[in-house]
Amino acid sequence: MGSRMRGSVLIAVVWTLASPVMAQEEAQPAADASAEATAAPAEEAPAAPVAAGDPVRGKAISYTCLGCHGIPNYKNAFPNYSVPKLEGQHAEYMVTALQAYRAGERSHITMHSQASTLTDQDMRDIAAFFSGEVLKPGAKVVGKAPESAALCVACHGQDGVGITGIYPTLSGQHEDYLARALHDYKKGGRKNAIMAPMVAALKDADIDALARYFSQQRPALKTEERPSTRLTAHEGH
Ligand code: HEC
Ligand code: HEC
Repeated sequence: MGSRMRGSVLIAVVWTLASPVMAQEEAQPAADASAEATAAPAEEAPAAPVAAGDPVRGKAISYTCLGCHGIPNYKNAFPNYSVPKLEGQHAEYMVTALQAYRAGERSHITMHSQASTLTDQDMRDIAAFFSGEVLKPGAKVVGKAPESAALCVACHGQDGVGITGIYPTLSGQHEDYLARALHDYKKGGRKNAIMAPMVAALKDADIDALARYFSQQRPALKTEERPSTRLTAHEGH
């Protein structure tokens, strides 16, 4: 009972500390929820029809991608960290990520050149193929969430599954990749208005604990396995 009390006090403290940030972000999850609510009828409106991703075409044009993303535990060469798992990830998020590499908001030379040749429709098709069986929220939590995760779970879920399609799923993602991504948001290698304030106050030890916690959640994201040519990635900064 005592520790439960302490837990809620801690969450309150974290929340208070972070509230200016949240205010600035205009309570993102709520805003997104309403955006989603209005997004559904838009499908009938002839104005801006967004073609859904076609996984069959996606598979046909993503052969090169599998040279890295299709090999389990494959590593980025310089510096050394795991190539992210894509199977089970939200397709909508993957499209945003690819657009960020194309625009240079994420600095990674190899992914920038990979994404530069893709149209938005190509990205939607490839994301539809890679996402496969998308992970659903609600799994039993593995281990104990570090205190620094109190904010994160509002978007990424207690079990690491992004609560809507725009929030990446982290469950079972490679631990070293998650840590790498968090450092990148902090150093500015990834420029993102939502994540930058989230990581600003994190210490290296917090990042390690968060990466460990989310990587151990199950069910896990997977590597779309396919034997193919091995390619080598380099970071961009
Ligand atoms: C040479 C190896 C390599 C190739 C080829 C490659 N990728 Fe990547 N990809 C990576 C690495 C490494 C990262 C992580 C980069 C970073 O640190 O931001 C990445 C990141 C991504 C991400 C972001 C994942 C996330 O969780 O945010 C997506 C989506 C992605 N790649 C899709 C693709 C697609 C689609 C293709 C083919 C058009 C492709 N990749 C080709 C190595 C590669
Ligand atoms: C308000 C919602 C929100 C909160 C809170 C939040 N995130 Fe995020 N997170 C996002 C969004 C949106 C992205 C995608 C950003 C992008 O496009 O690069 C993201 C991306 C990430 C990524 C990169 C995933 C990948 O596959 O590359 C990691 C890791 C991450 N967040 C961890 C955290 C951690 C740890 C916390 C808490 C300290 C946190 N997030 C808090 C919304 C949030």
